[in-house]
Amino acid sequence: MARLGVNIDHVATLRQARGGSEPDPLAAAVLVELAGADGLVVHLREDRRHIQDRDLSLLKEIIQTKLDLEMAAEESMAKIALSIKPHMVTLVPERRQELTTEGGLDVAGQKDRIKAIVDLLHDGGIPVSLFIEPDLNQIKAAHKVAADYVELHTGRYANARRLKEEQAEFETIAQTAKLAYKLNMGVNAGHGLTYRNVKRLTQIPEIVEYNIGHSIIARAVMVGIERAVREMKALVSGS
Ligand code: PXP
Repeated sequence: MARLGVNIDHVATLRQARGGSEPDPLAAAVLVELAGADGLVVHLREDRRHIQDRDLSLLKEIIQTKLDLEMAAEESMAKIALSIKPHMVTLVPERRQELTTEGGLDVAGQKDRIKAIVDLLHDGGIPVSLFIEPDLNQIKAAHKVAADYVELHTGRYANARRLKEEQAEFETIAQTAKLAYKLNMGVNAGHGLTYRNVKRLTQIPEIVEYNIGHSIIARAVMVGIERAVREMKALVSGS
């Protein structure tokens, strides 16, 4: 039964829109957990456009499940992670101009740099996941740099317009998940997943966790955050 990690960055985005204190991502985190989520995900971006350093340290204090910190593969960010000690760090590519994380981390093209950050986090006892495209070379590279998990980028699957294209992306995700599992890495998936497109992916037994943000927070605006999380949890856990 797959787990659900809920990304609450968008709650902070709404707060930052007015520069005040509402809505509070900490309150959201408590409700998300009460609704049955298995973990919280936040991305501390270099430009601090949504989650702030204070959110991060308070979240680590208050949550009962687990905290997955997404961050750029930079030493300055690794230092923050080492002081907060989240339950896991997911390394993601980051560009200031992007609306959200676009594309996976190119691990194959910068193995030494990524390995240095992975080692730093491992020395502090923090497991590391790498957010990568579903690509066999990237999986092999993730294994080489000693990643504990990969998070397969589901953006191309989610954006597929035609059935044939969606089928091809599904097959690619299934194949790469198999290889990652064979290489003893845990397999997570995320980006662009919705109440409509996640169900099919749950046929892939190697995927143990889905990290979902925008679709859940968007539905929460309409139906409330607890119901939105419960409905997604039911889909990913196949109940
Ligand atoms: N996983 C990773 C690594 C991400 O960067 C994001 C976006 O912040 C997500 C999952 C969630 O994507 P979405 O908001 O499209 O559900």
